[in-house]
Amino acid sequence: MNELLLQVSNKEKTARTPVWLMRQAGRILPEYRKVRAIAKDFKTLVKTPELATEVTIQPVDILGVDAAIIFSDILVIPEAMGLNYIMEESKGPFFPNRISSSHDLTSLHIAEAGELQYVLNAITLTKKELNGRVPLIGFAGAPWTIFSYMVEGKGSKTFSEAKKMLYKQPEFSHKLLQMITQSTINYLQGQIKAGADIVQLFDSWAGILSPEQYSEFSLKYINQICDAIEGVPKIVFAKGAFFARGEMNKSSCQVVGLDWNMGIEESRRLMPDKVLQGNLDPCALYGSFDDVRRETRKMLDAFGTHHHIANLGHGLYPDIEVDNVKCFVDTVKEYKKGN
Ligand code: CP3
Repeated sequence: MNELLLQVSNKEKTARTPVWLMRQAGRILPEYRKVRAIAKDFKTLVKTPELATEVTIQPVDILGVDAAIIFSDILVIPEAMGLNYIMEESKGPFFPNRISSSHDLTSLHIAEAGELQYVLNAITLTKKELNGRVPLIGFAGAPWTIFSYMVEGKGSKTFSEAKKMLYKQPEFSHKLLQMITQSTINYLQGQIKAGADIVQLFDSWAGILSPEQYSEFSLKYINQICDAIEGVPKIVFAKGAFFARGEMNKSSCQVVGLDWNMGIEESRRLMPDKVLQGNLDPCALYGSFDDVRRETRKMLDAFGTHHHIANLGHGLYPDIEVDNVKCFVDTVKEYKKGN
């Protein structure tokens, strides 16, 4: 029974820092690519609980991480609300019908957890297969990031269509954000009932908003979700939202994820009440083993041995070597302060 992640999230003292990686279940592992080939396409993999369970557990066995994260995607929420997406091979997500006006809201509804039963089944099966070895992380996208995909219809460098909405149609924007928020609360409560031990919100596009917009169109809804979710610790990862750290200290989440642009000491000062997660630059894992060890130890020295969950500052890139990822995980596990 390894409960390090839950203990640290609840601010208990532990013998060492727990470690897991965003996007640990994915293309860096040849074992993942094999299962992915059997499933043929990404969505079939997500919707087949036996296969989703298998790839969720792979990093626990292969990398030795202290937690599993359920294999799914943040885009299952728009789909459950009525907006279908396609995962285009080597291109990313695409929504054939994007949302562009309040009229389009009539085609959407607030999703109930039962509409994502395949994810809940995968969670229940994964918990059974893990048999208490490590905790299972549930997750969802933060409302602003989900809104961005629904309005933009695909990935973007600027998300200017989504931002345009905030300026031109703020009322409509709030309506859609509120629908996503309620759907996400239903979904996360379902994940917790199904067995998720802790949940993370991914606000991948937080950094493209101004501080004022972030507070009004993103953090407000993240806080609604955190306030509504009870019984398990909550992690908020808002990539690029360095400007919101002071405000995030007041959120009811237990853990805040940092990206690699956020200074560690400064973040400790701005968020004295939070456990912090992160924040090695994924590109640091392209170096030699010695480079990986040095950079990882530097990060651990800066965080100190308490109130920290070791992770990257964003997800793993698919071309990072598995052995270098293992080197990162092992360095955290072997670390003693002063080494
Ligand atoms: O290991 C894990 O972290 C669990 C699984 C997971 C996936 N997506 C699987 C996935 C998680 C937590 C996500 C979250 C997710 N999905 C985010 C937030 C995190 C972040 O990276 O900022 C976002 C923005 C998405 C949307 C998404 N899904 C994009 C933009 C893409 C295409 C780009 C890419 O990475 O390929 C995906 C596809 C996706 N989701 C893959 C995986 C393993 C790759 C698809 C494949 O196997 O072909």
